[in-house]
Amino acid sequence: MLGGNGQVGWELARALAPLGELAVATRAGEGGLRVDLARPDTLARAFDAVRPRLVVNAAAYTAVDKAESEPDVAEAVNALAPGVIGELAARRGAAVVHYSTDYVFDGELDRPYREEDATAPAGVYGRTKLRGEQALLDATADALIFRTAWVYGRHGHNFLRTMLRLFRERDELRVVDDQIGSPTWSRMIAEATAQIIARLEGEPARIGELGGIYHLTAAGRTSWHGFAAAILEGSGLDCRLLPISTREYPTPARRPAWSVLDNSKLFETFGLRLPDWDLSLRQCLEEP
Ligand SMILES: NC(=O)c1ccc[n+]([C@@H]2O[C@H](COP(=O)([O-])OP(=O)(O)OC[C@H]3O[C@@H](n4cnc5c(N)ncnc54)[C@H](OP(=O)(O)O)[C@@H]3O)[C@@H](O)[C@H]2O)c1
Repeated sequence: MLGGNGQVGWELARALAPLGELAVATRAGEGGLRVDLARPDTLARAFDAVRPRLVVNAAAYTAVDKAESEPDVAEAVNALAPGVIGELAARRGAAVVHYSTDYVFDGELDRPYREEDATAPAGVYGRTKLRGEQALLDATADALIFRTAWVYGRHGHNFLRTMLRLFRERDELRVVDDQIGSPTWSRMIAEATAQIIARLEGEPARIGELGGIYHLTAAGRTSWHGFAAAILEGSGLDCRLLPISTREYPTPARRPAWSVLDNSKLFETFGLRLPDWDLSLRQCLEEP
């Protein structure tokens, strides 16, 4: 598994452990396996060392705003590396599970996005992630790509942890109310991934039959302000929350106004449906 220190990767390291022998790679190589996605030679060396039957890639360049000024790094990590992973895997008969994003869409649709809807990323991050999807699919048929969105958890950098910190530091907070999406707990993504892999009965080659793109987010939808209000309520902290518009909170990268993904292909194929975002949030907040 690649990206062991990320939000999803950290959860995957636990969720995948019961399924078989698991090697966890990080950029710094703390656990002994070091992979820098910007350096294909480190990927090839890791493939030689581990000889995986299945590679789960949770590593990515996820700094959406910084990507606007570092397009080359984002391109190497998000667009080129998935193609290299796909080629190395195809040569060795391994399957690949990879993650992508709602940012491949422009957010202009009036219904939840389906997998086959036209993509039109608005920024560098979304463009590079979209190229990564294509590079991986071009390199190998044995690949599952899960597009997720609005990921949060108790580990890593995310909206939940930022809000909890700011609720303690401030009396009043302004949060964007005109971007709509489905906050998705990193643990749910990891557990769904593990269940899908387990359901493939230890035969990663079956991924070839089912390969392609799947949307994988929590059910339901809210705005960032609605998400913040639910975090506030669940945390028992005190802060005044004010809704603002995207125009009042300019960022280097443009965000889609509508990030809701239709998860029915995932349900029809694997019988899996992630819980409502607010139920998962309550469970996540109950964690010590
Ligand atoms: N976060 C979201 O809201 C969101 C939304 C939609 C889709 N996704 C997708 O979901 C997947 C998992 O995201 P996440 O939220 O878990 O991301 P994350 O918490 O930002 O973790 C990304 C991980 O990738 C690693 N990484 C970055 N550059 C690397 C490089 N050059 N070589 C090796 N590792 C590198 C980072 O390593 P370090 O720890 O060393 O920095 C980090 O551990 C990604 O594919 C992402 O695009 C995320």
